[in-house]
Amino acid sequence: MNTSLHDFIRGLPKAELHLHIEGSLEPELMFALAQRNRVALPYASVEEVRAAYDFSDLQSFLDLYYAGAAVLQTEQDFYELSAAYIARARADNVRHVELFFDPQTHTGRGVEIAIVFAGIARALREARLEHGFSGSMIMCFLRHLSQEDALATLQAALPLREQYADLWIGVGLDSGEVGNPPEKFAQVYAQARECGLHLVAHAGEEGPPAYIHGALDALQVERIDHGVRAEEDPALMRRLQQSQMPLTVCPLSNLKLCVVEDLREHNLARMLRAGLCVTVNSDDPAYFGGYMNANFIATADALHLSREELVQLAKNSFTASFANAEQKQQWLREVDEYQAQFAAN
Ligand code: HPA
Ligand code: ZN
Repeated sequence: MNTSLHDFIRGLPKAELHLHIEGSLEPELMFALAQRNRVALPYASVEEVRAAYDFSDLQSFLDLYYAGAAVLQTEQDFYELSAAYIARARADNVRHVELFFDPQTHTGRGVEIAIVFAGIARALREARLEHGFSGSMIMCFLRHLSQEDALATLQAALPLREQYADLWIGVGLDSGEVGNPPEKFAQVYAQARECGLHLVAHAGEEGPPAYIHGALDALQVERIDHGVRAEEDPALMRRLQQSQMPLTVCPLSNLKLCVVEDLREHNLARMLRAGLCVTVNSDDPAYFGGYMNANFIATADALHLSREELVQLAKNSFTASFANAEQKQQWLREVDEYQAQFAAN
């Protein structure tokens, strides 16, 4: 354990680019919302919920994640969920988030898509006004459902585009990866691209390197979410390095979902040292044991990251964001100033 390095991490300005807002639902809020909305939960206590978070793979997590999300029903629920995440992120010196949300998880239960947008947006706008916290929204399609379902979701969301022009910046692809390759969603991604939305997709978490190629070629994504299985394909590693295609890596998620057996075996440091544009993110922090700083600290300890490498990870998070160039430069300067100031003390 290195106290000074941990302090350095805590104060380091950073951006989070891979965060499912539904995955930030802490058991305490899950219980409170279940009571308020009269939704039955298959758990007797908060402790019982936490004890159930013992996953063997992505699907074993998704089963609980979708069940937990059933307590989210009103605009106020989505607002409180998002406000709670933002408070945690700010405490970790996160300056900017590009958060994922899964409308199909909610519309499938009869919650209108406009309610989901409105609650999340209210929290992000309030945080911008009150704290200068920067945030935007990436709408994800559930890949275990059909492309027709994704197309209908995009159609349902497009009328909201103007109302949320300051926030809704892109689309993503999540849920069960294996058996649902990127090519399945080529048409809906082409439509989103024509609308001027940014494109990202989960690929190479549990799926093979071919899914990363597929996300790049068939979907034309601008970032890969996870991407850790790229290491199995040397030509792909070269492609990712040469293009500086960002990877939003989630170390504690990979550990909890058994993508790696031990954090000391995680390839984040190897990819960083090979010159890839990797970032650190929390994915579903309420389920995977920690928010941004917990991910940074556990990774730094397990992989012996240097202060310079941590600075590189923080800079990558801003560079890989969809913020404008001027804003990025301002954050990058902030990181430099922080590093200089920390060194002087
Ligand atoms: N992978 C795929 N789908 C998800 C994840 C993830 O890590 N988190 C929430 N939905
Ligand atoms: Zn994810």
